[in-house]
Amino acid sequence: MDERRFTPAAGRFAPVRLYDPVVALTRERLWRSLVAMHVAPRPEDVVVDVGCGTGSLAVLLNRVEPRATVIGVDPDPEALAVARRKAAAAAVAGGTPGGTTEWRVGMGDEVAAIVGAGTADTVVSSLVLHQCPVPMKRAVLAAMHETLRPGGKLVIADYGKQRTAAMRLAFRFVQLADGKADTQPNADGVLPRLIAEAGFENVRESETVATLTGSLSLYVARRS
Ligand SMILES: C[S@@+](CC[C@H](N)C(=O)[O-])C[C@H]1O[C@@H](n2cnc3c(N)ncnc32)[C@H](O)[C@@H]1O
Repeated sequence: MDERRFTPAAGRFAPVRLYDPVVALTRERLWRSLVAMHVAPRPEDVVVDVGCGTGSLAVLLNRVEPRATVIGVDPDPEALAVARRKAAAAAVAGGTPGGTTEWRVGMGDEVAAIVGAGTADTVVSSLVLHQCPVPMKRAVLAAMHETLRPGGKLVIADYGKQRTAAMRLAFRFVQLADGKADTQPNADGVLPRLIAEAGFENVRESETVATLTGSLSLYVARRS
């Protein structure tokens, strides 16, 4: 595996600028709101968004709690440029009294080194792991575990087990864009097991959302 390879936000064939219009078709406001509900950021919290892409979730979380520090990490500088513009437009980038949104370039398996081991109250990630080869899914989850303080929370939103024929059919669009090898383990329901194997406790699938591109699952877990 080339550990430094990554699939860009809009998939293998489309430019990053198409990502936001496409992800809007996934009932985005619903599932991002559910993620925000589970993260429930508090003042002084450090929240790390792994694979933050164009920054929609990080910006939303900082809007929910401007006194939290939200750090977005992504390997794609082009996506981070969009995130910076989005944060500036939302007037959260450094301009919100007491609150900060920061952006760092890096892969998910490097996140503990990038933001510091044991520093995050919550690690969040959306629509990233389905784009990663299984060894990278494992490495990213291990790095997320290392990044959290003891008792910290993990919230992941991603394509999970595709339980119906309609959802399996819908998910083919994602598989075309992102490749079958990396996406099929998610569709087979591998994530809860990988999250537990990374050392997390109380792993549960708390929500599922049927979308035009397949079924999204929210997974929550704790670092003990
Ligand atoms: C589909 S986009 C999701 C972006 C954002 N999290 C969201 O919810 O809109 C996937 C993002 O994951 C990033 N990515 C892909 N492989 C990664 C890896 N191994 N570690 C961290 N980020 C990765 C890509 O650069 C891309 O920005």
